[in-house]
Amino acid sequence: MKDLRPGTVFLIGAGPGDPDLLTVKAVRALGRADVVVYDRLVSPEILALAPTQAERIDVGKLPKRHKVPQDQINEILLRLARQGQTVARLKGGDPLIFGRGSEEALVLRGAGIPCHYIPGITAAQGAASTTGVPLTHRGLATGVRYVTGHRARDASLDLDWFSLASGDTTLVIYMGAANIGEIADNLMAHGLPADTPAMAVSAATTPRQQSVFAPLNELAGNAVIADLPAPVLFVVGQVVSLGAETAPVQETSDHVLAQV
Ligand SMILES: C[S@@+](CC[C@H](N)C(=O)[O-])C[C@H]1O[C@@H](n2cnc3c(N)ncnc32)[C@H](O)[C@@H]1O
Repeated sequence: MKDLRPGTVFLIGAGPGDPDLLTVKAVRALGRADVVVYDRLVSPEILALAPTQAERIDVGKLPKRHKVPQDQINEILLRLARQGQTVARLKGGDPLIFGRGSEEALVLRGAGIPCHYIPGITAAQGAASTTGVPLTHRGLATGVRYVTGHRARDASLDLDWFSLASGDTTLVIYMGAANIGEIADNLMAHGLPADTPAMAVSAATTPRQQSVFAPLNELAGNAVIADLPAPVLFVVGQVVSLGAETAPVQETSDHVLAQV
């Protein structure tokens, strides 16, 4: 096997949860790791793909359950790379979709450290496949937008509500659980009909997945949705009407694959 340049960092997307959704390239890079630096949403089955002797560093939480601040994560990556270790930096979903992968790459490349992205399946794609809700569909959605529903402490959600309220685009809202009421109200105030189909999906692609369908004006008041465990993703748009009639696809595809 060819030697890697000492101190190489792979910024790897671990996908939405199902370990079978990892890319072949991600598995290869994990297998070369001296150390794995991983986020909260990365499953134990995926971590197990790294060599047993590889060090594992959890930056998803500290003992008091707070996330490790981003500048500390950057410092950890810099330190490990400068020691000449091959680093697998594992992130949930795709590292370049609300994953801060590019922030880490900027720091690493700025320090002259070789660093490579390995894409992962983002939560929206995982949820689409397991709920049967397509992200685009001819006649229902001409495009899809991924938006963040998260706001920094005390800040208001600064989104372009007029353009987001376009009825022919699918909206996928990441990190929106805490603010879904405000998001739905703004979308309706800017013209999106109250009866626009919507769904919330928790832990998509994992055995714990739950999906709940409700029109836009009932998303926030729905008690089942309010109780869904993190991580939760919202999909809003006419495409959601196709999913309600579809059986959970993951179970079916897993069963079919188990038989071959
Ligand atoms: C910091 S973002 C990371 C997104 C990730 N980089 C990706 O591409 O999926 C975390 C948010 O992603 C969404 N998310 C991630 N994994 C999910 C899953 N398996 N099911 C539902 N939502 C998920 C949730 O909205 C969660 O709050």
